[in-house]
Amino acid sequence: MDKLIKSANPFLRAARRSVGIISVSAALVATSQAALAACDYEVSNEWGSGFTASIVITNSTSTAVNGWDVEWQYSGDNRITSLWNANLSGSNPYSASDIGWNGSIQPGQSVQFGFQGTSGGTAEVPAVTGAVCSGSSSSSSSSSSSSSSSSSSSSSSSSSSSSSSSSSSSTSSSSSSNGSCEDMCKWYQDDPRPLCENQDTGWGWENSQSCIGRTTCLSQSGTGGIVSSCSSSSSSSSSSSSSSSSSSSSSSSSSSSSSSSSSSSSSSSSSSSGTTDNLYSLADFPLGVAVSAGNESRSFLNITEKQTTIKQHFSQLTAGNIMKMSYLHPSENSYSYDNADALVAWANSNGLSVHGHTFIWHSDYQVPDFMKNYSGDFEAMLDEHVTNIASHFAGKLASWDVVNEAIDENQSNCYRNSVFYQKLGSDYIPNAFHAARAADPSADLYYNDYDTEGGNSNKLNCLLDIVDNLQAQDVPIDGVGFQMHVQIDWPSSSSIATAFQAVVDRGLKVKITELDVPINNPYADAAFPQYSSYTAEAADKQKQRYKSIIQTYLDVVPAHLRGGITVWGLWDGDSWLLEFDERQGADDWPLLFSGPSNGPYEPKAAFDGVAEALLGQ
Ligand code: XIL
Repeated sequence: MDKLIKSANPFLRAARRSVGIISVSAALVATSQAALAACDYEVSNEWGSGFTASIVITNSTSTAVNGWDVEWQYSGDNRITSLWNANLSGSNPYSASDIGWNGSIQPGQSVQFGFQGTSGGTAEVPAVTGAVCSGSSSSSSSSSSSSSSSSSSSSSSSSSSSSSSSSSSSTSSSSSSNGSCEDMCKWYQDDPRPLCENQDTGWGWENSQSCIGRTTCLSQSGTGGIVSSCSSSSSSSSSSSSSSSSSSSSSSSSSSSSSSSSSSSSSSSSSSSGTTDNLYSLADFPLGVAVSAGNESRSFLNITEKQTTIKQHFSQLTAGNIMKMSYLHPSENSYSYDNADALVAWANSNGLSVHGHTFIWHSDYQVPDFMKNYSGDFEAMLDEHVTNIASHFAGKLASWDVVNEAIDENQSNCYRNSVFYQKLGSDYIPNAFHAARAADPSADLYYNDYDTEGGNSNKLNCLLDIVDNLQAQDVPIDGVGFQMHVQIDWPSSSSIATAFQAVVDRGLKVKITELDVPINNPYADAAFPQYSSYTAEAADKQKQRYKSIIQTYLDVVPAHLRGGITVWGLWDGDSWLLEFDERQGADDWPLLFSGPSNGPYEPKAAFDGVAEALLGQ
């Protein structure tokens, strides 16, 4: 019911920044809402009782649109449960309006917002109306069809083959001579490849060659997109990237910056080329960093330079520790919110959103002692734990890791034998999601774990089983968090892609929640540590690894399912890995910045890898 209507909290930062862009261009454009655009409703996925869909507004005139709102109504039982990248109001009929940064649609560009909903079995495709819509709106449902969507979202040219139909005979022809031209997918800098006929997202294999789904093709963040085979080079970048790229460019708005540049040693090729003013502005999703706070050493609230660099390059914070169970709920009847409140207040007043981590985690010292020895009604106690914490932060957080690390793939039923499992069986997981949703309807809710990103297929299978169970029981889960404490050479990008795709296929968001890439791999065949200092070679390897992880994320996860990417610490000296037993005390340099401890922090080559991937380079 009212668990719906989520504003674009996670994108708070982008909204704040792009106000400048809109006001600058406002003088040059027609103000709002003449009939300027085509409004298309597209079902991107549907399963038993639910669906995901999006509305694409394409400006095919020569005049810019500045501000929009659209309406639609389901004739049957379809209802929206969450929506992103627009402000939603009403409840069938619904209306949605821009959220500032995506209000301006330049000629030839599209903006898109997405939503998830429930249905009695069929996802409807209603007409979309609104002053901005020219009346030529079209619609399409999942897979196959969607030729209409591509034609509308590709910029100029193309005669937009309305067809929308389906199947074979492939995609619409974008120009002249029948049969000889067809839509292809230009994949970043690569030569165009075939579009899949039988799947809309991900990569497929058809007619003895690999193909790319339309939605996946259109969600590239770079310069790729749908092109005609007759003019293989050209244009037409993705619909979703138009919204991201409009936010990307941008000035550095506020603050001084330059915490980077300055001094500092280290071999030049190991450090950043220093050209990116604001890393977060290159992403159309939250770009986060984990921080220490409260009484922890190196608390960002005690180090001004840390705050400066975080504000400059990130749009979201996660507390590395201080929002875990034992910190917030140390004894049965007392909660301790001061440190977390200070973190959240700082983030919100500096335009960053916050991802909560985490209501329930087995890890020994993080479980409050009173829970370990609890003799009362364990279920009621745990529900209250989640409810109280979620209520305390309600409306202030973008999302939560509701349950962390519940999987043990070596157990036949996949569940870790934690105190929670011992007391409640697997029910503690759905219970926690229900309690969190009831207490904070606007936060996205994630299940979070490690080693699920494809290299360990047993663990990935456990994850998918658990997620399938939750979805089958209508548990309000919005996404899966992949911690991604990966190795420099493991798992492979294709394993990672497979894992992300499996979550995307379930209509869930993918969030990389704890990314770090150590240079030395204790599990590799080569003697450990492979590097005893941070050489230019090591820096370049790390840069390429960060880059390919971000590229994989952009390639596989469509814009509306991107929950964001968070790195687990700001600079190398902050990394938890330096104290992680399995690394035997070996030195490492896993993060995007180098020190010294109180700054200034210097962006490393790895930072450039992230920036390049976000720029589609
Ligand atoms: C780590 C913190 O970074 C450390 O400071 C702490 O000592 C242990 O926990 N997976 C998680 C995180 O979900 O909460 C962990 O954080 C790292 C592994």
